[in-house]
Amino acid sequence: MASKMLRWFGIVVASVLVLVIAIILAGRVVSGRRIAKVHAASASREISIPADSAAVARGEHLVRAVSGCVGCHGEDLSGTVMIDVKPLGRVAAANLTRGKGGIAAGRTDADLARALHRGVRPDGTSLWIMPSEAYVHMSAEDIGAVVAYLRQLPAADHELPANELRYVGRVLLMLGKLPLLSAELTPDAPYPPAIPPDTTAAYGRYLANIGGCTGCHGPSLSGQAAGGGPDMPPSSNITPTGIGSWSQADFVRALREGKRPSGVPINEAMPWKVFGKMTDQELQALWAYLRTVPPKEFTAR
Ligand code: HEC
Ligand code: HEC
Repeated sequence: MASKMLRWFGIVVASVLVLVIAIILAGRVVSGRRIAKVHAASASREISIPADSAAVARGEHLVRAVSGCVGCHGEDLSGTVMIDVKPLGRVAAANLTRGKGGIAAGRTDADLARALHRGVRPDGTSLWIMPSEAYVHMSAEDIGAVVAYLRQLPAADHELPANELRYVGRVLLMLGKLPLLSAELTPDAPYPPAIPPDTTAAYGRYLANIGGCTGCHGPSLSGQAAGGGPDMPPSSNITPTGIGSWSQADFVRALREGKRPSGVPINEAMPWKVFGKMTDQELQALWAYLRTVPPKEFTAR
């Protein structure tokens, strides 16, 4: 009797093991294919890169205040290791300078523009975690300004380890649980027309798109469950249902000082220190836009 049970137990354990191995192997094959896929990038490659100091200043402002590049690439843009978790994988945000370990010397202006607008490397394979799904909304003029700014960064030596997706990461990618491959999340679209910078809701919407508000707060800005690890609180509902009772001054204080009207601090998972560097005009436009989005309950689409 006992030996019979033992045999069944053995069969069950062996079957589970075979199943786990099959899932891991499938994860390897499927993720490998998706990682190696070459993506079409049909937007014009002929993007003009301005050289005047106003454009470089505009690029610097986008990089440091609006689009939060420094949050991942570091204050001097020499790159950071963002994730390094044993069974999951490792992702480093590239060194964007000409220094040792930097990518700038090996990229044309068109390569940099495509990285931003389409989320691909020069060979057409997808970048990892780079939020091109936000930057696809940038006008060609603003992409040009960002590239102009990157081109004149001082060289900073910083060599980063290679990216690597390990077995748990590969299974999660296969199951659609890991939004890793930027080019899969970014439509192959033409550059949108430029919107004149002013205090209108139309310009506020532009800033919300290229600032990545929708990336964290969800497509309708109604909030999103935590996705960025154990320390990350859920992203709040910033439709009028969530912050409709706020005044414009409350909103400006939230982004400049990280404080809600109640005085309760806002977690730094919300990059308010970056957005707080936006101009008064930009914050006014963002607020004007947030007042126009349809009120929605938390996480409702
Ligand atoms: C959420 C984090 C994050 C933000 C924000 C971010 N990046 Fe990246 N970026 C990455 C990561 C990670 C990589 C490396 C991806 C890879 O090698 O697969 C990368 C790669 C790049 C590359 C290199 C492409 C190549 O050819 O190898 C460029 C250029 C770049 N980013 C520019 C920017 C600029 C400019 C901004 C702001 C407008 C920005 N990034 C914002 C994470 C980020
Ligand atoms: C990297 C993710 C991320 C991005 C990008 C982001 N947020 Fe947030 N935001 C959060 C998180 C997380 C919270 C909740 C913080 C907390 O609970 O303390 C939050 C909270 C807020 C709050 C406070 C809401 C409340 O009810 O207290 C406001 C306002 C806000 N975000 C506005 C914005 C705007 C506007 C943008 C775009 C310019 C933006 N956020 C972009 C993650 C993000």
